[in-house]
Amino acid sequence: MSQPLKIAVAGLGTVGAGVVKLLASQAALLEARCGRRLVVTAVSARERKKKRGIDLAGMAWFDDPVEMAKSADAEVIVELIGGADGPAKAMTEAALARGRHVVTANKALLAHHGTALAAAAEKAGATLGYEAAVAGGIPIIKAVREGLAGNRIDRVYGILNGTCNYILTVMRESRRSFEDVLADAQKKGYAEADPSLDVDGFDAAHKLAVLASLAFGVAVDLSAVSVAGIRNVSPMDLDYAAELGFRIKLLAIGRRTPRGIEQRVHPCMIPVDTLLARVDGVFNAVMVDGDFAGNTVYVGRGAGEGPTASAVVSDLVDIARGSRTPAFGLPAAKLAKLEAAPLAEHRGRYYIRLMVRDQPGVIADVSAALRDERVSLESMLQRGRSTIEAVPVVLTTHETVEAAMLRAVDRIARLDSVIEPPCMIRIEEL
Ligand SMILES: NC(=O)c1ccc[n+]([C@@H]2O[C@H](COP(=O)([O-])OP(=O)(O)OC[C@H]3O[C@@H](n4cnc5c(N)ncnc54)[C@H](OP(=O)(O)O)[C@@H]3O)[C@@H](O)[C@H]2O)c1
Repeated sequence: MSQPLKIAVAGLGTVGAGVVKLLASQAALLEARCGRRLVVTAVSARERKKKRGIDLAGMAWFDDPVEMAKSADAEVIVELIGGADGPAKAMTEAALARGRHVVTANKALLAHHGTALAAAAEKAGATLGYEAAVAGGIPIIKAVREGLAGNRIDRVYGILNGTCNYILTVMRESRRSFEDVLADAQKKGYAEADPSLDVDGFDAAHKLAVLASLAFGVAVDLSAVSVAGIRNVSPMDLDYAAELGFRIKLLAIGRRTPRGIEQRVHPCMIPVDTLLARVDGVFNAVMVDGDFAGNTVYVGRGAGEGPTASAVVSDLVDIARGSRTPAFGLPAAKLAKLEAAPLAEHRGRYYIRLMVRDQPGVIADVSAALRDERVSLESMLQRGRSTIEAVPVVLTTHETVEAAMLRAVDRIARLDSVIEPPCMIRIEEL
């Protein structure tokens, strides 16, 4: 019988405790699949006495995860602390410097330092596994890196943040405000006390930067991702979207264009009859366009103890079996420098909602601003009549260039009759 794979786990929170539980409860199955046992030999967290619902008997305890990475009796160091820098980065670097394999669920770490860590892993002859960092329980990293290895990938996109998807779903169904639904999501544990990473789009941007590197063979470049979150989406926009045959989803989109790689995270209007439009609640979904495979679709739980632990353990199984793959599908030195496509040159259709004083000439002024930028209108909806209160005016455009659209919206926003900043949402052709 082969030697067991010895594993040290830093971070025993939602994911870390989940990994320890999964390894214990699936021990026989994993041993059969790997031909060796997977054994946790060491752990690290902040509070040694905290009740975690897991049995840590026989595991060495380290107060300091960096010390654990440097000296634990383990072939694999699992980083489940979180954060782009600090102990997560220090322990990962220490483990690789010592020639140990690293498995992490930390998308922030990878989005900021992914290429350098991949290079350090190669130099050490070690694996850097991060299946859990993108889309939780959906095995999207292996699908792109291994399953679709024969394809040139032109687009990878989807719903990568379950918290935002949950909030938008509940807002649409209940017509409650963003703030109200967010407070509820925090009570239910679907949103963090500080929700900014999720609702402002940064978490999805971290995941997109990692996925885009893998899909397009470019160095990870978080600064090339254009990011907008969901704070400004109102129940009114969700209603209008439905009336126009759309759903609003926070999408992360990576795309090859003739001008370079486009990476963006923002609320999108997508046709209601598409598969992505029907992915609701905390679920994630990823779509990948390969030139030979065509469009492939992956749907599942993007977070939570079980799904994320499942993804972490899939990397441990690869290591136990001796299966080795470069972290981003090709050697780090071969990852191209990312040429970012300027978003100003993006071509697409747009939804704009204005709140206007219902007075003569408003529509003519709005139309003139669009005409002068050669933006052609596809539809216009105006509801209600009131000379004192603002009334909504909703426009959709034909395909146009983003820079022209932004200039037109800027001019519209400065009209006296427009009483709050216009809401502009890109309409995404899927
Ligand atoms: N939660 C999810 O569903 C999910 C999904 C995908 C990816 N991830 C990623 O997985 C990672 C962990 O997330 P999580 O939700 O499990 O976080 P969490 O519940 O907050 O757990 C973090 C753990 O790290 C420990 N820790 C924090 N600072 C430490 C330090 N300086 N030294 C040693 N231990 C330290 C904490 O110790 P104490 O317990 O003693 O405080 C805790 O056990 C993050 O990178 C996250 O982005 C999470």
